[in-house]
Amino acid sequence: MDQSDKYFLSYGQIHETVKQLARRIGAAGFDPDVIVAIGTGGFIPARILKTFINRPVYAVGISYYGLDNVPKATPQTIQWIDEVERKLAGKRVLLVDEVDDSRVTLQYCLRELLGHKPKEIAVVVLHNKNKEKRGTLPEEIRHYFVGREMEDRWICYPWDAEDIAAHEEQARATV
Ligand code: G4P
Ligand code: MG
Repeated sequence: MDQSDKYFLSYGQIHETVKQLARRIGAAGFDPDVIVAIGTGGFIPARILKTFINRPVYAVGISYYGLDNVPKATPQTIQWIDEVERKLAGKRVLLVDEVDDSRVTLQYCLRELLGHKPKEIAVVVLHNKNKEKRGTLPEEIRHYFVGREMEDRWICYPWDAEDIAAHEEQARATV
């Protein structure tokens, strides 16, 4: 994949996207009791969201790509805190991830979380890739907020950058 086939996003752009998302979540009347971040991509977006929607943030760790960057057959639970499960019963949950790509991770995670009897779960992702999805959102999900709809290209997030100055430069060049 050539550099021009990728999106480079700066921390500033992501902060703005989260701020707009927070406004839309408020406008839709969804008032969460807790925020749950899907790690690791959802950690930083969830923390920024907390600036605008100040609720406790919990984390679940799910990985679908192995260390070699090759997708695994099914998502793997990396870390699933019992505490999280107990905290969800009867609550309005805002589930945060950075990207809706194949949707497999989201589907897996939603199925698990719905099993803990929350009152409602709304999903928020910074970016949704417009492509054929292998996963589906369960029908219980009434709110699905997307920061930006994207073409099916690789998105380079600032937290993955080894050279943040070069990354931010690329992000400025490809707004
Ligand atoms: P989905 O349900 O949210 O669509 O996710 P999917 O299973 O398709 O795969 C999610 C994994 O793929 C995530 O990594 C996510 O970060 C990564 N991913 C997919 N598209 C992109 C992209 O365009 N850019 C980047 N940087 N990552 C992408 P993960 O294995 O869950 O781990 P983590 O990175 O969140 O820790
Ligand atoms: Mg992720």
